[in-house]
Amino acid sequence: MKIIAHRGASGYAPENTLKAFGKALDLGASWIELDVYRIENELLVFHDERLERTTNGGGYLWDHPLGYLRGLDAGEGEKIPFLEEVMELVGEKACINIELKGPFTAGKVGRMIEALVEGGTRDYHHFLVSSFNHHLLREMQTRFPRIPRGALICGIPLDYCEFAEQLGASAVNLSLDFIDADIVADAHSRGMEVLVYTANHPEDIRRMARLGVDGVFSDFPDRNIPAP
Ligand code: G3P
Ligand code: MG
Repeated sequence: MKIIAHRGASGYAPENTLKAFGKALDLGASWIELDVYRIENELLVFHDERLERTTNGGGYLWDHPLGYLRGLDAGEGEKIPFLEEVMELVGEKACINIELKGPFTAGKVGRMIEALVEGGTRDYHHFLVSSFNHHLLREMQTRFPRIPRGALICGIPLDYCEFAEQLGASAVNLSLDFIDADIVADAHSRGMEVLVYTANHPEDIRRMARLGVDGVFSDFPDRNIPAP
């Protein structure tokens, strides 16, 4: 079962900062998850819609110019990073799950991944683009069909993973709060991986391993605890 560093090693360093991604690499994480918004034609790595929880700023992210956002302290003196900066830091050391949070992110993320693959240092399977906004995933499917997609949901749909199959997803990314054996079996029968957010407690990580999921997102990517 893979352990995906959720917003970097966000249990040890400020989430979604270069420090958190560097820490994840230091801990040997093979996968890193991050969240992106598009502001002034740049992709910023940030989770919340608002600034208060993780920075010394205030208000909605999208109500501020890029210069203001880049001047904020995102924790321990870290800046809100550009996606390019994270890609450069990670290089070939780990795979990256980019979660599309805001609108107009699909095209720019897709082009960035295509350029890296064309550059010859990375392959499509080193990336996973995910979103709770399935319209953005549909855009990815249409414009960049070779980039793997992960369909995020928080719940158990009546028709289980049918929605993810329609999106040609390689993974269905499920909430720890709702997951059960039936949806895991359904995803696997459709040939999709199951990735679970967010498993931090050792008992949860063990429980997910016993359930046979393919990976968990964790703020503590070093908690690779085998099932007893
Ligand atoms: O992608 C997994 C997980 O990050 C989804 O939820 O709110 O942490 O972005 P959230
Ligand atoms: Mg996320």
